[in-house]
Amino acid sequence: MAQRIAIPHSKPSLDEGDVSSVSEVIRSGQIVQGKVVEEFERRAAKYIGVNGAVATNTGTSALHLSLRAIGTKKGDYIAIPSFVCSALLNVVKYVGARPILVDVDPKTYNIDVQDLKKRIRKSTRAIILPHQFGLPADIDEISSLGVPVIEDCAQAIGAVYKGKKVGSFGRLSCFSFYATKVISTGEGGMVVSNSRNLLNKIRDLREYDNKKNYSIRYNYKMTDIQAAMGISQLKKLNSFLLKRINIAKRYFSELQGFCNLPSISYKDRRHIFFRFLIQIHGSVSKALEFFSERGVTCMRPVYKPLHKYLHIHGFPNSDAVWNKTISIPIYPSLTDKEICIILNVLKQYLKRKA
Ligand SMILES: Cc1ncc(COP(=O)(O)O)c(C=O)c1O
Repeated sequence: MAQRIAIPHSKPSLDEGDVSSVSEVIRSGQIVQGKVVEEFERRAAKYIGVNGAVATNTGTSALHLSLRAIGTKKGDYIAIPSFVCSALLNVVKYVGARPILVDVDPKTYNIDVQDLKKRIRKSTRAIILPHQFGLPADIDEISSLGVPVIEDCAQAIGAVYKGKKVGSFGRLSCFSFYATKVISTGEGGMVVSNSRNLLNKIRDLREYDNKKNYSIRYNYKMTDIQAAMGISQLKKLNSFLLKRINIAKRYFSELQGFCNLPSISYKDRRHIFFRFLIQIHGSVSKALEFFSERGVTCMRPVYKPLHKYLHIHGFPNSDAVWNKTISIPIYPSLTDKEICIILNVLKQYLKRKA
């Protein structure tokens, strides 16, 4: 019997255009960070609507360099949400700072502003503000607290808040181009900003060689091979976003009434549906098993909330969403047939549980 190939949870959107852009760089023989990286930085900054950009080898290193560039010192406090991937906790620890974990809003999965206000201290050096799963966070309310904001747009390139792209609000803003992300360079990241001074600091920290004076620096460079892929992907970003939003609308209309769903239209912001999350009753791990046995790979949107890693309590919304949320496949290359399979399997499960 032919083995059924499971529908993956994520898949990069790649085509022959990406292949020829990369091949061209390889043929040129200039494969490390050079003119193509500079071109990718220029185009990304223009797309986001900021003065400049510095490409890095991962989203994590983009965040790490951002904390260094704003002068984070040992013992400083950095606010981050609890319901997020552990990269954010790692970068806080890399610089010897202390995390202030904040609960999330169970409807939007973004930082809960009221909880942030309660937990934040005067001496907080920065807030790392992710736009979780593609939905812009409450940028205005959070910026008005007077603490520098580092936007984390790893999951939200192209999302819009009050008419402007995310990434154009923060003192610094970071992106990831990992293989599962909206546009991909395999691994990759970027910091963007309107501050030339901060961008220059990040450029200096990104590479260690040929410096007049010694201080701790890194090897966080992107290669021209990756940047060629980034330019090629960036050209297709708008069509990727349209496809994601259309699939989200289809999921929404077909799954309405079966389970708790995210809102799909907002007055003041555009969700780009990096992830489509559904809330179910019953055990998440059993549901994931049910879908996997039927050829549909679903996942928890966050493997484990950060407060659980740190063995601390007091994050009821993060706990609640972790216990009932499933991320279902959503990406531009999903075929109509695959979407039908996903919907059928989901409905089978949800009807059984109703
Ligand atoms: C919100 C968020 N920030 C940062 C990162 C880290 O990016 P990278 O995997 O490119 O290091 C991720 C990665 O999944 C992420 O989801």
